[in-house]
Amino acid sequence: MKRSFIGAFLFLGLISAALIACNNSSSPGTQAYVANVAHGKYLVDTVTGCADCHSLMDARGNVVDSLRFAGGQRFGFGPLGAVYSRNITQDSADGLGTWTDAEIITAIRTGIIPAHALNGTTRTDTVLFSVMPYALFSNYSDNDMADIVAYLRTIKPVRYSPPADTLPPAARVKVPPQVLPAPTVASAAATRGQYLAAVGLCADCHTQRMAPPAQGFDMTKFLAGGFSFDVPPFGTIYSANITPDSATGIGTWTDAQIQTALQQGKDNKGQSICPPMPWQRFAGLESSDVQALFAYLHNVPAISNQVPANPNCP
Ligand code: HEC
Ligand code: HEC
Repeated sequence: MKRSFIGAFLFLGLISAALIACNNSSSPGTQAYVANVAHGKYLVDTVTGCADCHSLMDARGNVVDSLRFAGGQRFGFGPLGAVYSRNITQDSADGLGTWTDAEIITAIRTGIIPAHALNGTTRTDTVLFSVMPYALFSNYSDNDMADIVAYLRTIKPVRYSPPADTLPPAARVKVPPQVLPAPTVASAAATRGQYLAAVGLCADCHTQRMAPPAQGFDMTKFLAGGFSFDVPPFGTIYSANITPDSATGIGTWTDAQIQTALQQGKDNKGQSICPPMPWQRFAGLESSDVQALFAYLHNVPAISNQVPANPNCP
């Protein structure tokens, strides 16, 4: 499940322009439109990593490039069944080619897809399974959503229809929007960090879920790690406690050490950080966004939670 690195550096030059020129009513061909697409690409490829879920992986855990964004990745839930990510390329039959901008945005932020998306398929439900982290994407701003859609419109159509899911209909529960706690000491940087921890999915991987039938995160363990992943060939990998707790979290780490973990995949002892921590992708984060994440991580409640040790992941 090694995540492949996406060449986000190429676009860094354009991004600062995009941040200034957040004109979301730009039309194709204009300079503002180019900036919107570049900013959408930064959000999709570097901040959120939509392709990490919306692509098939090869045996070594890298995205199969010809099927990038075409879906088909399997998310198994033991005896319950499995769900497969969907094709989000511009293909008219299998992807989002016929969806309106508003329909795409509603799907991403609320997990509800338009009824016409079911036509001619074996799909029966317009509520997405919550593996698609729409509860966190509900935090995405209107401007950022518009830029994401502008970028998705540039993704070339790929003809590929992912397998139908095999989960019981009752497993499709509409999860409410998930608001993250405000930073304990407010600042513009920490508020930006709160936003990035939501849409960059730190919260998704670093927070355990409530015991079923309850839905959503166990906020008494917010960012305290211990959420587990099945990662062949390594086995079970637990996410780390990234709260400021000194004994079990990263309270004693310097910003430089956190940055090395976040962007180079080495912990404070020089050990390689296991997948699925997407450090290759986060290597492309703008430095102001990295600073914003530090500001937020220093200002969330310290939670004592000793996470089980992970194997070595060379
Ligand atoms: C953690 C994995 C994951 C991430 C990250 C993710 N998705 Fe999804 N997404 C899924 C899965 C799985 C489904 C299908 C759910 C289902 O069938 O109920 C889905 C469904 C969708 C759909 C509905 C498509 C359809 O035909 O029903 C859209 C649109 C979508 N995702 C867009 C995005 C975008 C854009 C991003 C990045 C901002 C993203 N997703 C990030 C897993 C993910
Ligand atoms: C797809 C899941 C996933 C996402 C998204 C994710 N992480 Fe992680 N992260 C992990 C896992 C799993 C580990 C533990 C790996 C290990 O111990 O080898 C980890 C480890 C870390 C570590 C190292 C801590 C330690 O004690 O070794 C830091 C720091 C970190 N993550 C920060 C972040 C931040 C900040 C974000 C959001 C910008 C983020 N992560 C997003 C899964 C994820």
